[in-house]
Amino acid sequence: MKQLLSAGAVDALLAWYRENKRDLPWRHTRDPYRIWLSEIMLQQTRVEAVKPYYARFLETCPTVKALAELDEERLLKLWEGLGYYSRVRNLQKAARTVMEQYDGSMPSTYEELRKLTGIGDYTAGAIASIAFGVRVPAVDGNVLRVLSRVSGSRADIAQQSTKDGMRQALLPLIPEAAGDFNQALIEIGATVCVPNGEAKCAMCPLASECVAAKEHLTDELPVRSAKKPRRIQPMTVLIIRDGDRTALRKRPPTGLLAGLYELPNVVGHLGEDEVLSHIRFLGFEPLRIERLDDAKHIFTHIEWHMIAYAVRITPEFDGYHGASGLLLVQNDDLHANYAIPSAFSAYVKYL
Ligand code: ADE
Ligand code: SF4
Repeated sequence: MKQLLSAGAVDALLAWYRENKRDLPWRHTRDPYRIWLSEIMLQQTRVEAVKPYYARFLETCPTVKALAELDEERLLKLWEGLGYYSRVRNLQKAARTVMEQYDGSMPSTYEELRKLTGIGDYTAGAIASIAFGVRVPAVDGNVLRVLSRVSGSRADIAQQSTKDGMRQALLPLIPEAAGDFNQALIEIGATVCVPNGEAKCAMCPLASECVAAKEHLTDELPVRSAKKPRRIQPMTVLIIRDGDRTALRKRPPTGLLAGLYELPNVVGHLGEDEVLSHIRFLGFEPLRIERLDDAKHIFTHIEWHMIAYAVRITPEFDGYHGASGLLLVQNDDLHANYAIPSAFSAYVKYL
């Protein structure tokens, strides 16, 4: 492959970054743990949404040690609403490895970082370069878009081989200021070379040698092969209440939304009569039923199409309803201590 960027463009990019970078909390530290946390949070979540979570997470877990030792319920509660919960489970698993194998200090090489659970090529490159100044690339979706456009590449960015090729091509260009260089490419992708036909080429430090800008290809690049369509899952969600307690159920320890609490639900769209017999099957006596609004939640590989009912039941004596595995939880306790995924947010607002 031809050289991706000239030496002049690398300098222009660094100068642009130093002048124009956003003031973000994780840009005030070289602590590898904080940089790691920020990169994991930023993987699937917008910068503005990450900020409050990042601050709150670090209050509870200021160190790798604190993260390694935090109990599961509190950990999930810290992540509640961010989604993609495997990220935080992997984070804790890796923190425990760092305690056991590295005495609590994050390893400083790309190769050792890459071995930790949840740290892939991109994240290992980001931590190694930003925290430790190692000259390795960090190619995420932003960087793939920028580099595809600059070089006019039509390679499918969904392919691993394309990512590997971009990393190889970047390697000889990475300057001493490796962390700034990688973040500059990310920043261009996030604020200038943005997707959906809105690239701001007139403000871009790479414009003078950008193929897409010269040939008006920003709408065509990057090329990404179509993802396979998501599976549609029809569901009926139940808000089962006795007085001011609501029934919750803990999800299984593996799979989608593992270990989080959910409103009881069944597959399919049930009519009122079917819901009432299901409620009796669970061992409750229904008093009143009311249909709520429909809601939709989109995950990576699946879409939940939810209908819902609020069902008032006769008061139970215990909080734990053994036969059904349901917990009856006071609403204030529920909001404070139980991590309920945002898939249910359309209904949690009724509680
Ligand atoms: N997205 C991924 N990493 C980022 C970073 N370090 N700063 C801003 N946005 C990012
Ligand atoms: Fe992207 Fe335009 Fe910059 Fe090229 S010149 S990298 S298309 S913003």
